[in-house]
Amino acid sequence: MEIFLDTSKIAEIEKWLRHGVIDGVTTNPSIMFKDGHRDMRTTIREIAALIAPRPVSAEVYTNDPEEMLEQAREFASWAENVVAKITVITQQGEACLRVIKTLEEENIRVNCTAVLSFNQSVLAAKAGATYISLFVGRINDEGNDGPEVVRKTRQWLDQWSYRSKIIVGSIRSVMDIQQAAMAGAHVITIPPEFLSKMVDHKYSRETVAQFVADGRKAFAALEKAKISA
Ligand code: E4P
Repeated sequence: MEIFLDTSKIAEIEKWLRHGVIDGVTTNPSIMFKDGHRDMRTTIREIAALIAPRPVSAEVYTNDPEEMLEQAREFASWAENVVAKITVITQQGEACLRVIKTLEEENIRVNCTAVLSFNQSVLAAKAGATYISLFVGRINDEGNDGPEVVRKTRQWLDQWSYRSKIIVGSIRSVMDIQQAAMAGAHVITIPPEFLSKMVDHKYSRETVAQFVADGRKAFAALEKAKISA
């Protein structure tokens, strides 16, 4: 299973790259805006260079299919490892599957995003999307079972040998991560604060404190014995 970082914060990407645990980065217009980035080209190019050859997803910001194609082609021209994020439908409910199909035929990798159901996942896979971003937090928000949608989608993709990979996004808790991992997500895209929570544990801290204190005591006793010898 791969882990992507769901952020556009350069310092966080550098930090988790150094730890060796991230396989890519996802962004969206809301993340970029919240993180204070206004120049998408500069930011995505910087992230792409930092994480190459790992992928970074950059999302289109239009409801018009022709503009989606134009934006995605431009994103792809910024670096080889840029993946175009295309919403599964527009805000008016128009299918964006043709956009996905066209881009994939042009060898531009697509991350089909804002996917909230098994049915949308099936169509995204059939249109040829490299990635399908299932938003478990938003699925759960509506009282549906996010992990179950992930499990069924993974089973269907495997059953029919589709190459699309599920990215589980919209992570709201560490439990979402555990459940997505066990439901068969190929990738989970995680906001940095949840990676920090995943690695931390109160009892690990206490255990380390015990080892450090005892190690220091043993070292001090050894030094004392050397001096008196
Ligand atoms: C990732 O690709 C998604 O854009 C992101 O995880 C969505 O998260 P949200 O539902 O918290 O906005």
